Amino acid sequence: MSKQPLLTPYSLNELKLPNRIVMAPMTRSRADNPENAPTEDLHVPYYTQRATAGLIITEGSQVSKNAVGYIHTPGIHSKAQVEGWKKVTTAVHEAGGRIFIQLWHVGRMSHPDFHNGDLPLAPSAINPNSKSFTPEGFKATVTPKEMTLEDIKITILDFQNAAKNAVEAGFDGVEIHSSNGYLFHQFFNGTSNHRQDDYGGSIENRARFFFETLDAIAQVIPQNRIGARFNPSLHNIFGMTMDKETIPTFDYIIEKLDKNYDLAYIHLSEPFNDVSDVAFAEPHIAKRYRPKYNGTLMISTGFDQDSGNKVIEDDDADLVSFAKLYISNPDLVGRFREHLATTQWNSDTFYTQGKEGYTTYQSKTNNLIINS
Ligand SMILES: Cc1cc2nc3c(=O)[nH]c(=O)nc-3n(C[C@H](O)[C@H](O)[C@H](O)COP(=O)(O)O)c2cc1C
Repeated sequence: MSKQPLLTPYSLNELKLPNRIVMAPMTRSRADNPENAPTEDLHVPYYTQRATAGLIITEGSQVSKNAVGYIHTPGIHSKAQVEGWKKVTTAVHEAGGRIFIQLWHVGRMSHPDFHNGDLPLAPSAINPNSKSFTPEGFKATVTPKEMTLEDIKITILDFQNAAKNAVEAGFDGVEIHSSNGYLFHQFFNGTSNHRQDDYGGSIENRARFFFETLDAIAQVIPQNRIGARFNPSLHNIFGMTMDKETIPTFDYIIEKLDKNYDLAYIHLSEPFNDVSDVAFAEPHIAKRYRPKYNGTLMISTGFDQDSGNKVIEDDDADLVSFAKLYISNPDLVGRFREHLATTQWNSDTFYTQGKEGYTTYQSKTNNLIINS
């Protein structure tokens, strides 16, 4: 049988990936300790079990106390969190893996319960009319506070500080979570950003906060160790709706990244839901952006072994990230290599605490790292 493209090595600049299978970032809500720090009992074995991935991207990790919007998500802003992550990166590296951390600010997808009663931050005071998972269960989101220029400056510094912490914690790189309806995406989109200053109005202005943050992060970690995630056709999720400028905004951002930056990768999502009838949506994200971006393109959402191999074979992407399949198949690389059936995930334990559904899925192959 001919070689599967997913199992061929890939050079992410000086990082040598033994395969093109990436573990996608996934919130798992296991940092249920007062510090919201990753732990030796849970996070270390969870990520180490998956170290045969070409690259692991961690769950979204808040860059500050302000950035949080879900219970028990880990942060990367305190000493205890950095110490917890150090144990994770050391164990993953010892197992032969590579690991980036996803830097996260949820913006308006939060609740005053997380902020001593203060309002969550957002580009504009527009309620996403969604739900936030608070310590007391799901609660309706509120109308957030429009960020002042000072809030924007502080948040950029929070991301820079988080990237510094990521280096100290031993990560191979960072991924900016500029996707899925969270803070940067709220700035990109005209339905969530009604600002009239330098951060709203034109496409260029709506992308400014992202690029200023990227430039600040690039002062503390090389550009080729920074990834950025985008979900251009996100529609009717977390209060995001598309308009005629949505796709042109992502065209602008991705073309600018192509022309002026040398990132580790861009990580794009195919649409989360069927957008074939949605006005202004682009249903084929990899196909649209492959010709516009000459660097490394990672694609995600809905892929399996066959479609993952195909998207690389067709040269529409360089790397493929798998999320839910990685929850229930720690040896996903081995399963693909040996053409074994994959185990179905149990969504009831996606966000619960403790090891059940987290570190309890078994490998069915020897799960060795094979440099092809
Ligand atoms: C339990 C769970 C948690 C997720 N958390 C994150 C996250 O923290 N950051 C992120 O960018 N995407 C997150 N996602 C989205 C996934 O990375 C991925 O885009 C999505 O699940 C589709 O990929 P799949 O079809 O391979 O599962 C999450 C998905 C799941 C299922």
